[in-house]
Amino acid sequence: MASVPCRTKRGFCVSSYAAASLRGPSENSIGSCDRLCRVTSPELARLPHRPSAVDLRVRVGSLFLENPIIAASGTFGYGLEFAHIVDLNRLGGIVVKGLSRQPMAGAPAPRMCETPSGLLNAIGLQNIGVEAFVSEKLPELLRYKTAIFANVFGCNVSEYVEVIRVLEDTEGLVGYELNISCPNVEKGGAEYSTQPGLTAEVVAAARSVAKRPLWVKLSPVIGNIAVIAKAAESAGADALVIANTYPAMCLDVHNRRSRLGSTSGGLSGAAIKPITVKLVYEASRVCNIPIVGLGGIESPTDVAEYLLAGASAVEVGTAHFADPRASEGLIAGLESWCQDQNIFEISSLRGALRV
Ligand SMILES: Cc1cc2nc3c(=O)[nH]c(=O)nc-3n(C[C@H](O)[C@H](O)[C@H](O)COP(=O)(O)O)c2cc1C
Repeated sequence: MASVPCRTKRGFCVSSYAAASLRGPSENSIGSCDRLCRVTSPELARLPHRPSAVDLRVRVGSLFLENPIIAASGTFGYGLEFAHIVDLNRLGGIVVKGLSRQPMAGAPAPRMCETPSGLLNAIGLQNIGVEAFVSEKLPELLRYKTAIFANVFGCNVSEYVEVIRVLEDTEGLVGYELNISCPNVEKGGAEYSTQPGLTAEVVAAARSVAKRPLWVKLSPVIGNIAVIAKAAESAGADALVIANTYPAMCLDVHNRRSRLGSTSGGLSGAAIKPITVKLVYEASRVCNIPIVGLGGIESPTDVAEYLLAGASAVEVGTAHFADPRASEGLIAGLESWCQDQNIFEISSLRGALRV
């Protein structure tokens, strides 16, 4: 007879994977407790209590990633800026800063301010432009075996298409992340991801030129996420990235001005996590394409929450401002957390929420 720690109060003990992998009832698959459970099944007793190795590999559509941790666009530069302190080869992927057709100077300072459990930013999509990225950054980035994604945006549909066209002539990128939380200047400034018609138009145009996997990054403020998610899927998205920052304001009451150089900005960090987890859950119930979740991820259990809600992988953003090694640390932390939970394969968590 052996004892294994019971991890749950919901009657499915033996710390997830081990019990899930056994067919048929066992003594400890019933009931709930916080104490050590007695295991009488000889089959169960032979199972290792703490896996020595955890399979962290995940699949997002046609792409296989070494682990589910991807550095989020805008919070990790072009990746190279972090190479002296982070082992870039460890990361599941890197999404570079959003790229436009021409270089952009961005918004006036100050561009960031801290909020309770969050960060408000108005960077104004500053970037070096797609051509400089291709000639100055990409060759060096490709020395790493990490999956590199280009985040793409534009002020109108043809700009999105032009950026992708330039990137299509290059080697090595594994895919595109289309940031559609941008105002369409030709359609009265409405954001692409706020209307299903605009979403479909920009995704279909990008799809028509993109031979690589096309991930579409949604705004979180879109009314009914199911409608926008389906519009992106039908127009040819290979995966959805949920989500971008939340429009927000932060004021200095003494000088009666915004605390940013711009009037408002985008809220990110721990404060947004529960709201975005719900969006991932809702989208995963209506879409057949994979979802990459992001918003406020700081710990292994944050990652697990997104996976349980239906994400196949996650991105880490604001956490890099507190700790530039946050993504790398999360990979080690996730492995250790899985071992404690007797989870052999991280992908077994995807969509495993009990409702
Ligand atoms: C300073 C900063 C710059 C960002 N720049 C971009 C960007 O260029 N393109 C983009 O799609 N998202 C951008 N984002 C949004 C993040 O990629 C991410 O979607 C958001 O911050 C939520 O995740 P988090 O809470 O982990 O930061 C930026 C976020 C921050 C904080």
